[in-house]
Amino acid sequence: MQKITLPRPDDWHLHLRDGAIMAAVLPHTAQRFGRAIVMPNLRPPVTTTRQATAYRERILAARPKGSRFRPLMTLYLTENTTPREITLAKQSGHVQAVKLYPAGATTHSEAGVRDITKVHAVLEAMAEQEIPLLVHGEVTDPQIDIFDREKVFIDQILSPLLERLPRLRVVFEHITTREAADFVRESSNDIAATITVHHLLLNRNAMLAGGIQPHHYCLPVPKRETHRHALIAAATSGSPRFFLGTDSAPHTRHTKESGCGCAGIYTAHAAIELYAELFEQAGALDRLAEFASGFGADFYRLPRNTDTITLIKESWNVPQHYPLGIAGALVPLRAGKPVSWRIANA
Ligand code: DOR
Ligand code: ZN
Repeated sequence: MQKITLPRPDDWHLHLRDGAIMAAVLPHTAQRFGRAIVMPNLRPPVTTTRQATAYRERILAARPKGSRFRPLMTLYLTENTTPREITLAKQSGHVQAVKLYPAGATTHSEAGVRDITKVHAVLEAMAEQEIPLLVHGEVTDPQIDIFDREKVFIDQILSPLLERLPRLRVVFEHITTREAADFVRESSNDIAATITVHHLLLNRNAMLAGGIQPHHYCLPVPKRETHRHALIAAATSGSPRFFLGTDSAPHTRHTKESGCGCAGIYTAHAAIELYAELFEQAGALDRLAEFASGFGADFYRLPRNTDTITLIKESWNVPQHYPLGIAGALVPLRAGKPVSWRIANA
């Protein structure tokens, strides 16, 4: 039997939602991860430190008994966010970052930013106070092909932004292209990227070939196989600029299997196990610990976790669905299929 022990990993990009859905999904994350950067795209969005503090309390109250999981909070950037709010966030001690959603780019992004010049004063305050900006890196221009939106975002938005604010610390979230990986690797700025396990495992065929697969649809959309290879190379390269962020995003089954299906893939139930599978296939299991449990904490200037988790090479079958209380049920990644690693104490 093969076994690996890692410092407890953290998830640097996670959707927990709220209410019944949060109560149903939080145990999956809390069982595996020490901390998670919690996305603010609730309805209404978490735009103030006061709201983030209340949301944090609800998450803490929903933790399974005995859990020491710690949510790390974020604010949702709008064109009305003030520099004063950034100061409040910094003072709170538990808001770690601010998330930029270009308006219309993804789930619950309507309140996001339409014109980046409108948030320059806030971004300056963030650079000043060393609060990282987390970016959903896609343009929303309907003229731009959806498979090109990340690359165009780099050229039109991210590059000029970093030139204008060289001290702004940035996490390019859930990168999906070779161009994004190259950009992050080669940048002279203090910039890093999260890589999801679904973008490491799936290409666009997994979403579109042999019938449309709504449970493989997420944003940014999975790209060609060559891009998936570039992401695997980045994640397993040992560069501290790439670290784990699942973007696990629960949606009910009926909102995914619909005439207009929601974007989001649920991976929290088997996240570290799936990354282990991928790193093993890439011959890089020895690089998993830094990617999953080291580089992210370093970037956020937080201490690394001191406890550990152990993974065992033993296959188990993912359930067809998980109940979401009154909200219905969700279909997880790999539903009904095997995962080759499991958590020892699960
Ligand atoms: O696929 C996605 N789902 N991408 C996002 O950016 C948001 C997320 C969600 O909140 O469901
Ligand atoms: Zn996300």
